[in-house]
Amino acid sequence: MNFLEKNNIHVISDLSVISNAILEGKYSQIYVLTDENTNKYCLPLLQDALVDYEVYFFFLEVPAGEASKDISTCASLWESLSEDNADRKTLLLNLGGGMITDLGAFVASLYKRGIAFYNIPTSLLGMVDAAIGGKCGIDFAGFKNQIGVFQNAQKTYIFPKFMETLPEVEFWSGMAEMYKHALITDSAHWAALKMVDSKEVTAQLIEESSAIKASIVVNDPLEKGDRKKLNFGHTVGHAIESYFLKKEKPMPHGYAVALGMICEAHISVQKNLLNLVEYDEIEEHLKDKYDFPTIPEKDFHALIEYMKQDKKNEQNKINCTLLTAIGSAVINQTAEEKQIVASLTYLFNE
Ligand SMILES: NC(=O)c1ccc[n+]([C@@H]2O[C@H](COP(=O)([O-])OP(=O)(O)OC[C@H]3O[C@@H](n4cnc5c(N)ncnc54)[C@H](O)[C@@H]3O)[C@@H](O)[C@H]2O)c1
Repeated sequence: MNFLEKNNIHVISDLSVISNAILEGKYSQIYVLTDENTNKYCLPLLQDALVDYEVYFFFLEVPAGEASKDISTCASLWESLSEDNADRKTLLLNLGGGMITDLGAFVASLYKRGIAFYNIPTSLLGMVDAAIGGKCGIDFAGFKNQIGVFQNAQKTYIFPKFMETLPEVEFWSGMAEMYKHALITDSAHWAALKMVDSKEVTAQLIEESSAIKASIVVNDPLEKGDRKKLNFGHTVGHAIESYFLKKEKPMPHGYAVALGMICEAHISVQKNLLNLVEYDEIEEHLKDKYDFPTIPEKDFHALIEYMKQDKKNEQNKINCTLLTAIGSAVINQTAEEKQIVASLTYLFNE
């Protein structure tokens, strides 16, 4: 049994292995939560794989997109479960990207004080990040992940083949979290990821990236210390994502994180933590891979306001994780407003 399996995370090439855990769990009902895309592209694969095992599903579907990660969607899912008399021995399979695993895990964690759920991530971002580590929650009052709990999935099954139908933009969104894992812990992994040029990231790289996330969260499940390293790129990134939530075209999570990583790497340079050569390498690679929209200077204050709401802040200071090198991060760093503005100015006015 490898490290991931010991932590109930399985990278699989055959979906039928899920039947073992389902049958062993003796669940009274099994629900599958999807969005309209994972319902169309991923659910048939799961159903085909389980057809011989007498596993019967009830279906829950929500519209695709971050807007479904909200309290009204939770209420309608809890209503459906209640109307069906779903009991505490119910299992929820969260079949989708990070939106579905965050939402489904939150719904399962609170329904009747908690029912079992398995995460079956279908996006790259879900596979290497969102489906691992027990953070689940929803957006609220315009803020990302404002309401949530820590609750681990009983099982997480990573089936890289789901990526065949994943749109290119979603692939690159997931790659951003893989870059982050490499930048905070492993320069060799960063070098390997830099070679990936198309949707064909290998199952091995996915497994390595998931293992980086899993090893960090296993050692610090409640984010008291080292888990904060995973927030690299997310202080600025979440603010950018929240900012674009209010625009016509939301920005995919990973794109916002990629922008956030450039800014936070720039802040690392301003604080003499990271050298300019490594900063340039990060900026050049990420700008080459992502087509970023611009943010006008007049809106920088709005981004700072979002950052002031960040859950990681303490004593009204904007707290972030910064880089000391490619492959090494330092937590609990204060970013001054003028340093943030300098990084945004550098990025958007270059
Ligand atoms: N809990 C955590 O630790 C954590 C970590 C990172 C991100 N997140 C959350 O994850 C969410 C972003 O996740 P995401 O990028 O996966 O977004 P998503 O779930 O919205 O998926 C992106 C798009 O891809 C589609 N899709 C997913 N899998 C597909 C497939 N196999 N084929 C075709 N289409 C597919 C979805 O329908 C959606 O339209 C955000 O809400 C973010 O806050 C959570």
